[in-house]
Amino acid sequence: MTKEKVLIIGASGQIGVELTLALRHIYGNSNVIATDIRETPHPLLTESGPYKQLDALNGADITACIKNEGITQVHLLAALLSATGEKMPMKAWDINMTSLLQLLDIAVQQKLSKVYWPSSIAVFGNTTPVDNTPQATVIEPKTVYGISKYAGELWCQYYYNRYGLDVRSLRYPGLISWKTPPGGGTTDYAVDIFHQAIQTGTYTSFLSENTFLPMMYMDDAIRGTIELMEAPASCLSTRMAYNIGALSFSPKQLAEAIAKKMPNFSINYAPDFRQQIADSWPNSIDDSLARVDWKWQPKFDLDAMTEDMLHNIKNLAPVAH
Ligand code: SER
Repeated sequence: MTKEKVLIIGASGQIGVELTLALRHIYGNSNVIATDIRETPHPLLTESGPYKQLDALNGADITACIKNEGITQVHLLAALLSATGEKMPMKAWDINMTSLLQLLDIAVQQKLSKVYWPSSIAVFGNTTPVDNTPQATVIEPKTVYGISKYAGELWCQYYYNRYGLDVRSLRYPGLISWKTPPGGGTTDYAVDIFHQAIQTGTYTSFLSENTFLPMMYMDDAIRGTIELMEAPASCLSTRMAYNIGALSFSPKQLAEAIAKKMPNFSINYAPDFRQQIADSWPNSIDDSLARVDWKWQPKFDLDAMTEDMLHNIKNLAPVAH
């Protein structure tokens, strides 16, 4: 385990910062190289270990970094999310697909031991069963982000079957966290609401009050990612991305959970174009395959997550946005 040398591409994003910190804790700070296209890296990345500026689309630079640093494992997190993707579909397709296809090829050439690439509940569309959405079901994504994630899952499975590449993936639900802001997703309301509750005591939700979506606290998502990556390959019965679930709630229920801690908090609703995206996604996820194959088990429920978010965001100064 200590022999792994990990490269994270897209490390400055919502998942990347926390995953980098967790992997540095496991493998040692100098064995986890954080990279991102952003000129100004997140301070938590540079304070705790090596950081390089790297473009996820620049295959030559990625290959050079893998060779020079003796990288054995790559986590590719760079992507345009659902809401941003709808504003620039071709750019989202290019960033999401070119970065993956290039990396899969590099991974085979450089004989990487493992690759991680996240998928999303966005693979599901209006024709999918909405409650307890199964692992294998009708999949007709509506957004360019969802199309890119589903195509990417199929490519990951192809590289596993054709070249034996050990590439692993999770269909993340909406991720809720306080260290790094989310970037351009449909589930971002569930993070913004906490910042606005503390700053102004009120929030205008861009999703309607009874829009249920699958969600998860970042601590669970990071632990799940690491547990999947460390599971013996023989335990994994699918090479598509695994469904993982934790929470399912609506803006109204989240507002009620916040109001238990902040009685004066108020919410109102002004749905925008993201409502249609949310309406095409599941309410809740059946993650029984992950629970059986690699013993996935979420820890945070709605109240525990709400308490942790409010506590940590209150201690942030100034609020990260
Ligand atoms: N959180 C993502 C989004 O809303 C879903 O994977 O786009």
